[in-house]
Amino acid sequence: MTSNNSEQVARGPKTSGETVGVVFVGCGYAADFYGATMPNYPHIEVKGAFDVEEDRAATFVEEYGGRVFNDFDEVLADPGVAIVVNLTSVSKHYSVSKAALLAGKHVYSEKPLASSLPEATELVELARERGLLLSSAPSTIFGQAGQTLLRAVHDGLIGKPRLVHASLDMGALAFMPYTEWRSRRDVPWPYLDEVANGCTMEHAGYQLSWLVAMFGPVVRMAAHTSLQLGDKWPTRTQLAPDVSLGFLEFANGTVCRLSIGWVAPADLSLTVIGDKGILSVGDVWQASAPVMLRRNVRTSGKTNAYLAEPEQLPFVIPAAQHRYTDTHDLTVGAGVADMASAVLKGGQSFLSADFSLHVLDVTLRLAAGRGVMEDVTLPASDDEKLARPPVAADTAAR
Ligand SMILES: NC(=O)c1ccc[n+]([C@@H]2O[C@H](COP(=O)([O-])OP(=O)(O)OC[C@H]3O[C@@H](n4cnc5c(N)ncnc54)[C@H](O)[C@@H]3O)[C@@H](O)[C@H]2O)c1
Repeated sequence: MTSNNSEQVARGPKTSGETVGVVFVGCGYAADFYGATMPNYPHIEVKGAFDVEEDRAATFVEEYGGRVFNDFDEVLADPGVAIVVNLTSVSKHYSVSKAALLAGKHVYSEKPLASSLPEATELVELARERGLLLSSAPSTIFGQAGQTLLRAVHDGLIGKPRLVHASLDMGALAFMPYTEWRSRRDVPWPYLDEVANGCTMEHAGYQLSWLVAMFGPVVRMAAHTSLQLGDKWPTRTQLAPDVSLGFLEFANGTVCRLSIGWVAPADLSLTVIGDKGILSVGDVWQASAPVMLRRNVRTSGKTNAYLAEPEQLPFVIPAAQHRYTDTHDLTVGAGVADMASAVLKGGQSFLSADFSLHVLDVTLRLAAGRGVMEDVTLPASDDEKLARPPVAADTAAR
């Protein structure tokens, strides 16, 4: 699925010609998603792993192959390593990716590409100067649901797409047993990092990567954020907003209302409304989520009667054989595999550096939430419902 319309990039590190050497830097919770799905891709050779916590690299290679690298310099000095997969904590993405690029390695980074636009832009320029590939997760677009939806929109099954409703609401995190979550290798879910980064930085890319792939870049947008459940976390926990709402307009004219958060019950759906019908995926994290089509029909009925019964579209690609399944069916390694194909065959990876930079740019704008916030002033009133401040519904319960 590599892009063939982009200019060829000069090849970086040597490959065997048939396989591409990959090392995982950072072997925490998310590393299991990658390790478990690598056997899907015979053109990838897992050379091993490095983590500042050595035992994490040790358990990773024990489970998924390769050897432990004793320090990062050893990774960078190994001529057999073509791609560094950066699975470190978000605050380390920039420095680790930069060092890898400077050492002449292609870099596949977990999201976000970096924590700021200047840092990410520097990485993109560095990759371009050196003829290296640089990509950022998420790679969920490579799953059966993503590919099938992309094809259906592209093939015009619903005519011109007009409006998208997209959500990445994960449920009310503060009320979940987040301290108990463990990966396959028993690595705890790093909730302190997650809530400090916030729902937008952690999750906007899951919807944005699909939307930009379908409709082109975002050309206009507005965004608001709010922290609603801040008082439900232990005191002094560093928190970012847990509610994020965006209104996006894409280059092709399609508009989208995007909801991301850790307050509302789980809703990870994507619905594309077009002139001839609607396409929907119930859960964009689920690689094999059914893609449903409802065609517009002529009817004398009211409300939704103009929409035919939902029909499931056949998947346009087969299911990946090796998956990581906990709450979701994930084929996370597909992005690295796509980059490895580009290393072997030339061309850009689908999640190109420019694509990843744009997704980050919009993510940062969503997280900043600089949308126009109007003050609403009230004339004096005797109606106590209009008295300020309103009485919080749960005040008595606290
Ligand atoms: N946790 C999830 O559910 C999840 C899901 C998808 C993607 N991600 C993304 O994956 C990335 C990692 O998240 P995680 O949940 O695995 O975090 P984590 O804290 O469990 O793992 C990060 C690992 O990186 C290591 N590390 C930190 N700095 C390093 C350095 N300079 N060199 C080598 N190793 C270093 C840490 O020791 C740790 O083992 C983040 O970008 C996150 O957004 C997380």
